[in-house]
Amino acid sequence: MLHEFAALDPLIQDHVHCRTDPGPYPPALDKVLPVTMMQEAQCEITQWPGYAPSTLHSLKTLADELELGTIYYKDEAERFGLASFKALGGAFAILKLLQHEIGNRTGSRVSLASIRNGEHSKICRTITVASATAGNHGRSLAWGAQLAGCPCKIFIHAGVGDARRQAMESLGAEVIRVEGNYDDSVHHAARLAADQGWFIVSDTSYPGYLDRPREIMAGYTVMAREVIAALKSEELPTHIFLQTGCGGLAAGVAAGFWSELGVDRPHVVIIEPADAACLAESARNGRATAYHIENESMMLGLSCGEVSILAWEILEQCAADYLTISDDGVPPAMRLLATGAAGGRPLVGGESGVAGLAALIDAAQGSNHRTALHLDNRSRVLLIGSEGATSPDIYEQIVGHAVQ
Ligand SMILES: Cc1ncc(COP(=O)(O)O)c(C=O)c1O
Repeated sequence: MLHEFAALDPLIQDHVHCRTDPGPYPPALDKVLPVTMMQEAQCEITQWPGYAPSTLHSLKTLADELELGTIYYKDEAERFGLASFKALGGAFAILKLLQHEIGNRTGSRVSLASIRNGEHSKICRTITVASATAGNHGRSLAWGAQLAGCPCKIFIHAGVGDARRQAMESLGAEVIRVEGNYDDSVHHAARLAADQGWFIVSDTSYPGYLDRPREIMAGYTVMAREVIAALKSEELPTHIFLQTGCGGLAAGVAAGFWSELGVDRPHVVIIEPADAACLAESARNGRATAYHIENESMMLGLSCGEVSILAWEILEQCAADYLTISDDGVPPAMRLLATGAAGGRPLVGGESGVAGLAALIDAAQGSNHRTALHLDNRSRVLLIGSEGATSPDIYEQIVGHAVQ
């Protein structure tokens, strides 16, 4: 089953290990990502049309082959029909932004449900949200803006394909293409939004811009809560492999587990492309550090050179290991899922969505990494399948058939 991987050079390019806080969710982090906000996100998101927990698959055949206890694969390709986990964060942040703005303009605090139900539609139509994106965040914002009834402007860079552009436009967003890479599109969006009075809803935090990324991470904690609700205590993951762009997904999921499970939280392993290793560099330097991207990884959603400072505040305390991987393992990992050979039924994993799987396969087979990450036949490893075929054309080229 793993013959495609056997033919490859080692996928893991770098490994940085860090000390973590062994205690319960620290009060200092409750200011970074408050437990009350995680609870609010849970109550709100579970009311949205089409909400259902994403499926937690067990990749039994692969776990046996790698001599691991269990491999869980949480399939975010199903989320709200948008093919990625992102709406959990982006749409929640839009609703929180509108709540805040309506409060400022009317002097009264309105509920998130009343916004969703169209009770403030006149004001909502005058509040424009905007963001840069590699695709998935923009799609989630377009969906959230439609849910909330506000206009949405999305900035994409040259590497973002037309299928992703169309997906956002079909949800009613205006999509603007700019030159350069992802980080250039972030700066462009920020400048134009400041000129036009639009509200940036970015998943990356930086000094002076914290509220929306915090809410986005709060939305992502729902994934951790769903996993905890689906399993008995003796089945809970011992490890989570979390792929990162700016770090929001990993920080949200890790904080969700930490706040719920305290000292019994799983061992957090961060995965990123070797070509966009901002978190591994941050871990090495002990402070948030940017990484200059020269080659865009095929894991487009992870090709991000700037760490979200809020995410870093969480991860530096709870992520024990940072692995960077080459792109080579991505196509075989996608094909492995697509055939169903890993166990269970065939699954659709996109390029960024399978990063954790590719890293786990390499780590579990390499004795040094296996020992360093404490992986053995009792390990229960959670992977977040963070996207499905978000670029259907690329998916088809890699897997050999269209999404069925
Ligand atoms: C599919 C997918 N997985 C993972 C990530 C990483 O999320 P974050 O940037 O919050 O670290 C992204 C980001 O866009 C993504 O699109």
